[in-house]
Amino acid sequence: MKKKVLLMGASGSGKTSMRSLIFSNNPASLTSRLGATIDVEQNHVRFLGDLILNLWDCGGQDSFMDSYLTTQRSTIFQQVGVMIYVFDIESAEAEKDMEYYRDCLDGLRYYSPDAAIFLLLHKMDLVREPQQLLEKKRLELEEASGDVAISVFGTTIFDQTLYKAWSSIVHTLIPNAGILSKHLSIFAQACGATEVILFERTTFLVIATSSSGSGVASSAVPTYAKDGSDHQLESTRYERTSELVKAFKYTCSRVREEFHTFEVDLPDFSAVLDELTRNTYVLVILHDPTIETAAVKLNIRLARSKFE
Ligand code: GTP
Repeated sequence: MKKKVLLMGASGSGKTSMRSLIFSNNPASLTSRLGATIDVEQNHVRFLGDLILNLWDCGGQDSFMDSYLTTQRSTIFQQVGVMIYVFDIESAEAEKDMEYYRDCLDGLRYYSPDAAIFLLLHKMDLVREPQQLLEKKRLELEEASGDVAISVFGTTIFDQTLYKAWSSIVHTLIPNAGILSKHLSIFAQACGATEVILFERTTFLVIATSSSGSGVASSAVPTYAKDGSDHQLESTRYERTSELVKAFKYTCSRVREEFHTFEVDLPDFSAVLDELTRNTYVLVILHDPTIETAAVKLNIRLARSKFE
């Protein structure tokens, strides 16, 4: 199964940087060395075994943009699964960026009316009051998009926000995400876990979780706090984990070690991160001190064939 993903936006907005962070495991500090993308750089990224992301990183210089919107219009905008449009939040040419966005939206509506649209307000690390600005820009973008459904995220390559946005993007491309969640809930119950999270192996983007995603442990999942209360789980925990594990993997690669598995065993909680299938990793979070992590690892091994 092949899905075309368009990555568009003005030159210098940060498209290639985010691609290299998410798909090539490069650190943010190396992105300043990237050159401008010439025309379209196409990449095929294998995701979850049989899903292939056909990533079109479209260089954002005006001459290229003009050509996408005229002579290359049908080639660019046909059969698109997702368009990701990146806006530099500090852009000095916000008007022009919006014009190009509207033109791209027209092209997409004509050739791929069913495509999902994600708008990333990028380089949020450079602004002082990110939340206020994000809301203001969101309203502007909603107005510019008319009746087209859009998802807006504030992102930066320097924190977990990029993983949150991209997890949401790939989630729209995974056909059986709902079923995976159901299976993870069953697995969480079998392990006595507070929560179970499934990550894609190379990108470490979140594919599915066992809980409802409300930020509080799902009532369907048993929790075992010593005082009997529910655990208040951080709402940013998924993307934080993606970011931390990616950084850890990068560190491992620098000392020529390969990352395989990870285990934490503390008085308050324990966690096991292990390979589940060829393309996924699973993170099991426990708050029951009587459950041994070795038992969880055994359960993961036994569950492998069910998830392959
Ligand atoms: P074209 O290839 O010309 O279309 O540009 P692009 O959109 O691919 O931009 P690119 O990824 O090459 O990034 C341009 C510059 O922005 C680089 O120097 C990056 O280091 C920087 N950059 C990317 N993301 C961020 C971010 O989140 N915050 C900050 N401060 N800088 C960023």
